Amino acid sequence: MRRMPARAGTSALARLLGMLALVALVTVPELATAQESEPQPEAFPAERGVYLNPERAPTADLDTLLRTLSDREMPDERLDGFTYWQNPALGFVTAPDNRVWRDFRTYWTKWIHGILIVLAAAAVLGLFFWRGSQGYERDPRGRRVPRFRFLDRVVHWTTAISFVLLALTGLNFVFGRQLIQPWAGDAAFGALSQGALVLHNQVGFAFLIGIVAMAGLWVQDNLFNRVDREWLRQAGGLPSGRHVPAEKFNAGQKLIFWIAVLGGLAMGTSGILLMLPISTIGMGWMQVLHGGHTIVAALMIATIIGHAYLGSVGVSGSFDAMWKGDVDRQWAATHHPLWIERLERDRGTGADAEPEAPRAEPAE
Ligand code: HEM
Repeated sequence: MRRMPARAGTSALARLLGMLALVALVTVPELATAQESEPQPEAFPAERGVYLNPERAPTADLDTLLRTLSDREMPDERLDGFTYWQNPALGFVTAPDNRVWRDFRTYWTKWIHGILIVLAAAAVLGLFFWRGSQGYERDPRGRRVPRFRFLDRVVHWTTAISFVLLALTGLNFVFGRQLIQPWAGDAAFGALSQGALVLHNQVGFAFLIGIVAMAGLWVQDNLFNRVDREWLRQAGGLPSGRHVPAEKFNAGQKLIFWIAVLGGLAMGTSGILLMLPISTIGMGWMQVLHGGHTIVAALMIATIIGHAYLGSVGVSGSFDAMWKGDVDRQWAATHHPLWIERLERDRGTGADAEPEAPRAEPAE
């Protein structure tokens, strides 16, 4: 480590201070929210690392600090620089833990998201070419069965639209620099990313409310039972091409429900905690929460790609359920026979009963 030359003049020192403050601002801009908080002198537990500290004298010159900051290797000892920030936690620039997080953020996150998205897209394409769109015979009497109430549909589409916005803005944080910045240019990409961050933070609340409402509305129909064991044993009839009896939701749908609810709650709560200033929960927890938020996001995006396929192209007639609220009776009898049996038993109607008034279909 090189020490500051003793005869460094005032202007050199001023330059050093200015540039170190700049380094701090460039390296950890997201930490600026904690600028106002109380100093935390105990915020430097690690001895190895680079620290920009308002309270300690610099022990390294600017060249050494800049080189160490851009190196992938940790310095062998502690290097101190100077920052104008009054909160020492903000000067915690490069310590062993921070490097692990930085590598995760800049490298592993891309692989985790990339691999899961490609796998989900491949699974959907494979399913389409293997089984095509699952059809059904239309009910000869044109009967339709109510499946989702207006409230169910409002909750579902609020959650779905907010999820898509969250996914797109979130993926910009992961892939934007590689995929968008080169052709959009620095200024446009900067503005876009700033807008994306604001949108991401706001829409997160709508998503969380949607998930909580969805859980309350549908939990009863998504509890696993013996019927689901058989459905899972036969892998939903996929290998045999035969329909396996199911209630209102089959076991695959129930899995999607629980992934959406538990994953959504985890994303929402970690997202809110990540919005707090860093001094509230500490740098270490911020890094853990950030890693968890990213991994659960990748799993949910992959799951929802599969769900969106099955709810539209994969199972024909399905989209009607969530868009119009009702389905052809034969669709229900094909995919959810135990549900339609119970529904008709409860209502005192049946396959041979008088037809319900068919929905007025637009002329073809
Ligand atoms: C973005 C495109 C989406 C499409 C096209 C879509 C479509 C559908 C459809 C058609 C159904 C009714 C299925 C049936 O009646 O059997 C449904 C149900 C459901 N959706 Fe979505 N959905 C989308 C996004 C989402 C998102 C983002 C979530 C949650 C994060 C979600 C959670 C659910 C749940 C829990 C159900 C009930 C269980 C199930 O059918 O899997 N959906 N969706």
